[in-house]
Amino acid sequence: MFMVRSHSSFACQNCGAVSNRWQGKCESCGEWNTIIEESAAAGIGAGTPASRGGRKGRPFKLEGLDGETQEAPRIVSGIREFDRVTGGGFVPGSVLLIGGEPGIGKSTLLTQICAALARKKRRVVYISGEEATAQVRMRAVRLGLADAPVQLAAETHVEDILATLAQGERPALVVIDSIQTMFTDAVESAPGTVTQVRASAQALIRYAKTSGACIVLVGHVTKDGQVAGPRVVEHMVDAVLSFEGDGAHHFRMMRAAKNRFGPTDEIGVFEMTGAGLAEVANPSALFLAGREAGAPGAAVLAGMEGSRPMLLEIQALATPTTLGTPRRAVVGWDSQRLAMVLAVLEAHGGVRLGGHDVYLSIAGGLRIYEPAADLAVAAALVSSLTGAVLPADCVFFGEVGLSGAVRPVIHTGLRLKEAAKLGFRNAILPPPPGDKAEEAPKDMRLRPSGHISKLVADIASLAPQRQLQRERARSETV
Ligand code: TYD
Ligand code: MG
Repeated sequence: MFMVRSHSSFACQNCGAVSNRWQGKCESCGEWNTIIEESAAAGIGAGTPASRGGRKGRPFKLEGLDGETQEAPRIVSGIREFDRVTGGGFVPGSVLLIGGEPGIGKSTLLTQICAALARKKRRVVYISGEEATAQVRMRAVRLGLADAPVQLAAETHVEDILATLAQGERPALVVIDSIQTMFTDAVESAPGTVTQVRASAQALIRYAKTSGACIVLVGHVTKDGQVAGPRVVEHMVDAVLSFEGDGAHHFRMMRAAKNRFGPTDEIGVFEMTGAGLAEVANPSALFLAGREAGAPGAAVLAGMEGSRPMLLEIQALATPTTLGTPRRAVVGWDSQRLAMVLAVLEAHGGVRLGGHDVYLSIAGGLRIYEPAADLAVAAALVSSLTGAVLPADCVFFGEVGLSGAVRPVIHTGLRLKEAAKLGFRNAILPPPPGDKAEEAPKDMRLRPSGHISKLVADIASLAPQRQLQRERARSETV
């Protein structure tokens, strides 16, 4: 016999790292004041020696990869932007984690999804641990969904929830809003601590796997890391979706950070309206809607989000600096990548930005990750610096290498088609690999640009007033 010794351990409430002493700063994730003492003996995996050991291992049968598999039909919510991100609907028995900052619209979206499924005669249960049932109902009324037969409760005790779910027909979907508010008797820690969040999630996941119900866990991501981050459950769930957006804009993007049953590069685009989240089927048109064509410093990127082409406006502002070290501020793009484009423009394009503060922003509040944005960023920067207005009907895309070469990117055809559809007539793009010429959509003129220096020259040829304005800009700054 051996004893389970009860001693304390210290868990970071942000990342879940465990250490044996208290520290002000978590060594694992670098957050401050996130370490809380928790009882280790009450942790997961703890049990009496009799329940855990004493039995000799029993061999089991190993199987090949080509065995029989039955794919259960997916549960399609009918909200297309959401189904796209999940990879075609909920997979029965799977667990999804939807993360996002408070107020971004997680509860709103899930209420809409629940109502849509409930109206299709599925059993849907919405457990709110944060809001009273009256509040959830009020939201449903606002969304015009109060008549949908969603089963609602304000509960936080996992054992009670599981007992309730076991009654009656197996639910198709269970929403737990949010996982941080849940607690289980299995562990002693206070609700909201990493141990509780993890143990509660584990109990709910076990229920999903055994019953075949799909569970959606809502997780708040807070910037200060005070609440247990949903990161501690990320590896236990089948899919992690993040709901993001910029408070100042109405657009909301759903992105998959992990998905065992679908792609991770698809995004769903929504718009927060007075009556809930509306699907945005044609994001390009919306993102470009408020565009100020005719102003220098703006370039349209023909980008891709997953399998979907998306046109976005990239805005740059270069102003002479008054600081010793010029400022570089980026919203919606990677600042390292901006530093690289600036260096390449300087080294290979003859464009000097060392004496300028540079601001870069993706209009609409979207975050983009693809390297194809390099060329559009470079174009916006050159345009802002020189005062040259880029033609309103021109799109840009291409990856820029450190040598200044513009490299091909994937999905050229899709990008061009989307641009043509929205009325663009010119595209500045990488030269096609080999001697294979890209087929242009009707009325579209392709202007391959093999090197960043050519881009700078191309901007000159596209914008005849550039020289003049450049001189003016120069005489102003001197
Ligand atoms: P909510 O879904 O409660 O956010 P979360 O669950 O992620 O914390 O939504 C919060 C915001 O959305 C709130 O500030 C009000 C706004 N909202 C609308 O603009 N329109 C609507 O129809 C609803 C229901 C909410
Ligand atoms: Mg909420």
